Amino acid sequence: MSDIDKDFTIVQERLEDWVKTSLPCSANGRVAAYIPELSKAPSDALGIYILDKQGQALSAGDCGLQFTMQSISKVFTLILALMDKGEKAVFSKVGMEPTGDNFNSMLKLELVRPGIPFNPLINAGAIAISSLIDGVSPAEKSARVLSFFRSLASNDSLDYDEDVYRSESETANLNRSMGYLLKDNGVLEGDVDEVLDVYFRHCSINVNCADLSRMALVLAFDGADPITGERLIPRRYVQIAKTFMTTCGMYNASGEFAIQVGLPAKSGVSGGILTMVPGRYGIGVVGPALNAKGNSIAGVQLLETIAQELDWSLF
Ligand code: DON
Repeated sequence: MSDIDKDFTIVQERLEDWVKTSLPCSANGRVAAYIPELSKAPSDALGIYILDKQGQALSAGDCGLQFTMQSISKVFTLILALMDKGEKAVFSKVGMEPTGDNFNSMLKLELVRPGIPFNPLINAGAIAISSLIDGVSPAEKSARVLSFFRSLASNDSLDYDEDVYRSESETANLNRSMGYLLKDNGVLEGDVDEVLDVYFRHCSINVNCADLSRMALVLAFDGADPITGERLIPRRYVQIAKTFMTTCGMYNASGEFAIQVGLPAKSGVSGGILTMVPGRYGIGVVGPALNAKGNSIAGVQLLETIAQELDWSLF
C-alpha cells in the first residue's frame, strides 16, 4: 500500500473526530462584519473536503456550506494576470515580499517608494492585479475570471453572489481609497472604479469546500488537472502562486501557519481556506468565525491537527 493510501485511510477514520475537536474554538472567533452581507454566515460551522488525484474524496462537517471566495480568489486572478501579461509586466506593478501588516493596510503604499503593493495577495496587490486582466470592459474581464475559475473547479455553475458583491461595493471605503492611491502612485491603469468592480466581483464568487479542493488539486499537480489530464496553468505560474501562498497566503499569520501546518494556503475573510499537499491532495476548508488576523480560527486549528498528525509539513 502506498503512503497516499495509508494517509487517506487514516483521514477517513479520523476526520469527523478532528472536525469535532476543532469546532469549539470557533467560539473564540468572529464572523466578518465589515462587509455586512458576510455577517449572516453561521459562526459555528466547520467543514472540510479532501480530494485525491483519482477524484476520491473525503469530507466532514459543514462541507456543503456555500461561501464567497474573498481573498482566496486572489491566487487565481494572479495566475490569470500572469497568463495574460507575463511575469515582467505583473512584477512591474506588484512586489514579491510579505508585509507583516494587515491584509487591508495601505501604510506601505505611502511609506515605501515607489509605492507599489508589496505582494499580489494583500488587498492593494490584488486590486493592482485586477487591472492587468485582459478584457475591453470590466464586464469582459469579470466574465474571463469567472470562466477561468469554472474551468479550475470543473464546475460550470460557479457564479457571483450578487448580494455579497453589492454589499462589498457599497461599503468598501478603504479599498476605494487604496485604489485611488494606487492610481496616484502610477500602479493602476484605467478607471479606478472599473478596476475595483472587477476586484469586488472576483471576491464574491460563490463556492463550497469541494470547489476549493478541486482548484487546489490543480495547483497540487503543478497546473495539470490530474483527474482530466488537462493542463490548465503553466507550471511556472503555479510555482509563483504556491510560493506566495506560503509566504503571504495567511497574511501576517503566514509565518505561524508555515510552522504549524507547513503547506501553501490561502484564506478568505468569509472563512474559507484553500490548501494542498503538493503531488497528493487538494483541500478546501470553511469555518466563518475568524481570528484577529482574518483567518478561519477553527479552520486553522483543524489543518494544524491534521498536518501534525500526518506529518504533512513540507519543511
Ligand atoms: O477586499 C476585501 O476586504 C475582501 N473582499 C477580501 C479580504 C479577505 O478575504 C481577507 N482575508 N482573510
